[in-house]
Amino acid sequence: MAITFCEKTKIFYLSGKGLTYAFQINSFGYLEHLYFGKNIPCEDITYVKAYGANTNPAQIPGHMRGGTYNQYPAEITFFGTGDYREPTVEIINNDGDRLTELLYDSHEILPVKPKINGMPSLDGGETLVVHLKDKITAFACDLYYTVYDDASVIARRAVYKNGTASAVKLNRAYSFAVSLPEQQYEAMYLPGAWASERQIVRTDFSKGILAVDSKRGSSSASMNPFLALLSKGATETSGEVFGANLVYSSSFVLKAEGTLEGRINMLGGINDFDFSWKLESGEELETPEVVLAYSSEGIGAMSRAYHDAYRNHLINKRYVNKKRPIVINNWEGTYFDFNGEKLKRIAEGVKGTGIDTFVLDDGWFGKRDNDKSGLGDWVVNEKKMGEPLSSVIEYINSLGLKFGLWFEPEMISEDSDIFRAHPDYAIGVSNRPRCYTRNQYMLDITRAEVRDYVVDSVNAILKTHNIEYVKWDHNRNVTESFSFGRDADRQQEFAHRYALGVYDLCERIVEANPDVFFEGCSGGGGRFDPAMFYYFPQIWTSDNSDAEARTKIQYGTSIVYPLSTMSCHVSESPNHQEKRVTTNNTRAAIAHLGATGYELDASKFTDEDRVRVKGEVDEYNYVSDLVLNGDLYRIDNPFDGNFFTVCVVSKDKSFAEMVCYRRTGQVSRQINKVKAAGLDENKIYFVPELKKNLSGRTLMNAGWQPGYPQGDFGAVKYHFVEVK
Ligand code: DGJ
Repeated sequence: MAITFCEKTKIFYLSGKGLTYAFQINSFGYLEHLYFGKNIPCEDITYVKAYGANTNPAQIPGHMRGGTYNQYPAEITFFGTGDYREPTVEIINNDGDRLTELLYDSHEILPVKPKINGMPSLDGGETLVVHLKDKITAFACDLYYTVYDDASVIARRAVYKNGTASAVKLNRAYSFAVSLPEQQYEAMYLPGAWASERQIVRTDFSKGILAVDSKRGSSSASMNPFLALLSKGATETSGEVFGANLVYSSSFVLKAEGTLEGRINMLGGINDFDFSWKLESGEELETPEVVLAYSSEGIGAMSRAYHDAYRNHLINKRYVNKKRPIVINNWEGTYFDFNGEKLKRIAEGVKGTGIDTFVLDDGWFGKRDNDKSGLGDWVVNEKKMGEPLSSVIEYINSLGLKFGLWFEPEMISEDSDIFRAHPDYAIGVSNRPRCYTRNQYMLDITRAEVRDYVVDSVNAILKTHNIEYVKWDHNRNVTESFSFGRDADRQQEFAHRYALGVYDLCERIVEANPDVFFEGCSGGGGRFDPAMFYYFPQIWTSDNSDAEARTKIQYGTSIVYPLSTMSCHVSESPNHQEKRVTTNNTRAAIAHLGATGYELDASKFTDEDRVRVKGEVDEYNYVSDLVLNGDLYRIDNPFDGNFFTVCVVSKDKSFAEMVCYRRTGQVSRQINKVKAAGLDENKIYFVPELKKNLSGRTLMNAGWQPGYPQGDFGAVKYHFVEVK
């Protein structure tokens, strides 16, 4: 059994793949954390308690105790009653006092993990729910825990319940707190920016508070909702790693707090910056889920734990294991400058290459010849197209291609019919000018009538055209956060209500169109978070399609997210964003490490180009199952040196691909012997590129010098096929 409770010791023992998590109801009724780490037997947990660090609470209301040190390791921290650490929850009671003491009340072990109302979460089996209560006010909190036998993660969340007779205000409502074993740590997180998302940062961490957050109403390009604490010096293959990743798409915070006595707490959830939430008597607030991952074998194993957890329990079930469409997208090929004829020529250009889906990007609707107008008017611009959209689709379908369409459902242009009719639909304050980021405003989708408008107008296009793919874009973040639809004392609920609005739109558009494949996008990878995977099995990873820049972006993204979630396109050289020149071979090799596609003006393809592209698509199809389901082993880190090397291995270890990339070439050849990873030592593999049979043991221990092409930005691939 994954979850047990011992009546005698009052210990909860949770055992998942590769991890044990345990805590106890202590003599004061607090939930005291005991253990989070590699599996240990249940009967030894009392040893951890008896011989662990001093775990006495410092001050307990109504008890004679002294000192402000030796805080007990907590499952939840709360404010005002003697614990000076970062609280998990902060309440303002109706009379103005801010005290809470959440004590054990009861618990239950449910056979199936309940869904969160209105928010994505992992599915799962047995789930522990611990009911906590403030015995004085009757304010309550439920803590949820689920462990898995196929991934080293634990899913956690909190639900706050106002059991008091009057309204209370939550000034903070985090999803979790967890105490980590006492040792030296480094922190790792994924900051970024437009066109350079999810760059890896590592830093020593011991005392004080380290926070990563977004205040943008979006999980954002500037910081991914992920924080890991690594035992000092941990590598890809060694050391302990504790990751926290929020299944959430709006303003978030994740913190690590190191206390004087050397204890580290991690906690976080909805960002409490510009947040408050009013709970009327009897109401509850569900918080987003956090996925805590554990690895005793370095960062690589933590990544594989997240990849397995998301593929098995989160990513849209309709597509998670399905071969992905290989698209030709017209954005970098035409930008706004196209008509129906131009689109048809692009589609003709890829005939016979194996590309199977044409995606028409921004510019097909309203009055949209540039990015200054038309958003929100989801009506085909037949004048610009020169014909009905359905006739373009019919023609493209007749070439054997499926048809996909771009939307930006959450946005509105000032120059649009919908803004002229309903200026209050845009987020903003009436007596102040709004930020006009990317020449557009955001729709106030915290309001039901605005969501109804979006759902009806997007669904109308989907229902009346043969559209089999949608790219859902989101090109700016919230400013002037204010809703005309909400009272003054509820305005700080905006950022969380925005997330709930996004999920409602997704339920009513994505789920209402089960035959349409949905891809996420946010000015590139600006909303690349697990909650989005629940709807969009893949997300455009970055607007930067340059192969060299992509080695870092995709490497950083893979720290948490599986290859199958990353849309990666082969684009023009010189690249439009970086102006860098790279070979077709390199661009394809890097773009094949994800859900691949093409993004260029294929109407200019020659017969020779078509033959080359067909070869690339065939190569991709050969490994596409690895991209969907394989285990990723990162070998050379492009943030640390001149090389980017990864190996993707099938679950049964019978087939693998290794991609080796060298940033700058050298005349006197720089030796970078690579060793494969993740293979079966005892299997024999045929390596077509080396024309040799070699054992997994040799490939992983002796390695070889890759045949990088001469010059800069060169890539070479190797395949390992089990010889039976
Ligand atoms: C940003 C996206 O990331 C691009 O791929 C493209 O769809 C543009 N928006 C269109 O406006």
